[in-house]
Amino acid sequence: MAKDICVLAYSGGLDTSVCVRWLMDEMGLDVVCVVGEVGQEHEGLEQIRQRALEVGAMDCIVADMRETFANEYLTRALAANSMFENKYPLVSALSRPLISQYLVEVAHKYGAKYVAHGCTGKGNDQVRFENSIRALDPELEIIAPVRVWEMRTRDDEMEWAAAHGVKVPTTKKRPYSIDDNMWGRAIECGVLEDLMNRPPEDIYTMTTDPNKTPDEPTEVTISFEAGVPVAIDGEKVTMQEAVEKMNKIAGEQGYGRIDMVENRMVGVKSRECYEAPGALALIEAHRALEDVCLEREVLRYKRHIEQDWAVNVYNGQWFSPLKHAMDAFISTTQQCVTGDVRIRLWHCALMVTGRQSEFSLYDYGLATYDAADTFDRDAAKGFIDLTGLSLRTWASNRRKQGKTDGLELNI
Ligand code: ARG
Repeated sequence: MAKDICVLAYSGGLDTSVCVRWLMDEMGLDVVCVVGEVGQEHEGLEQIRQRALEVGAMDCIVADMRETFANEYLTRALAANSMFENKYPLVSALSRPLISQYLVEVAHKYGAKYVAHGCTGKGNDQVRFENSIRALDPELEIIAPVRVWEMRTRDDEMEWAAAHGVKVPTTKKRPYSIDDNMWGRAIECGVLEDLMNRPPEDIYTMTTDPNKTPDEPTEVTISFEAGVPVAIDGEKVTMQEAVEKMNKIAGEQGYGRIDMVENRMVGVKSRECYEAPGALALIEAHRALEDVCLEREVLRYKRHIEQDWAVNVYNGQWFSPLKHAMDAFISTTQQCVTGDVRIRLWHCALMVTGRQSEFSLYDYGLATYDAADTFDRDAAKGFIDLTGLSLRTWASNRRKQGKTDGLELNI
């Protein structure tokens, strides 16, 4: 009888290599691996594919997901200025639902009954994979080998691999757990687990050491159309190119590092270091353009929704109806977010130094204190009288009661 098939999200590392053989030997399954290219650093995708086949996978599909990632995921993340806990631009949280889409499609293609991932039982990524897979096909069964097997440490896995004839990837033991894609890099574990340890310089690969940043600042103008970057310094770019270019430009100036303690879904606080030069630069520029193009109340409301959007996506709800509805709201706000923003990057800092838009709501005549002033200052008196009337009525009544509510200074 033919064996059931399991589709596994494969990275080429020790964990997922052991997963392949474990699913075969312990679960009696045939394994199809999926390797996603999302703009991460890697040793070569063909090499990773060969490794999967060597370990015993019946097939290994390498999928270039970059364009879809940029166009379907990062444009939305940028429109939402998404920053979890005001700091983290959701690097890993964005790639998991995309990889899940591929896992599910490959599962359908192969008639697979199972889908598997190599996440531990302690992190956020397991939740994101499993929620996304369930949203896309509630019937598929999910296996999380790392969460159920007896092995606890890397050495346990090496031992198991040797005993099962699995050629262990020659990649050397990394002192950190790293996940990256074109939106940024997440670095955790190792010495970073002591909150007082300064992040060692060697954890960073996208951002210049602050001691070595250039003497001269970089000025760059980003043009947006309906909230999406379309040109950099006048040169047309796709979303993917915009992200890649800004990674380089902002990274060179040492901009985009984050060192934070974040609240994981499972209730654990964890120390996380990130670098996301392009993502942060694009979000800063995009926000600055929204400041001039969005009507005041829309802007205020949107800034609130942005927080919810980030929490939702962080929590693995990419395919949820709430996230979908929030996207619809955010997308209507973006129709006027068209124009140019000039930013200046220098010594790890970013400043917005200019913005212009045909949809700008900034009215020089209303804003100026010069002779060109068109603002009707006579209207201000009635405005204050009425907007302050409730407070004035309250204060009069308190005085009548003989109360001052502790507001006097007693000088
Ligand atoms: N804490 C971040 C998040 O939950 C990063 C996770 C990175 N994943 C990893 N396997 N190192 O989005």
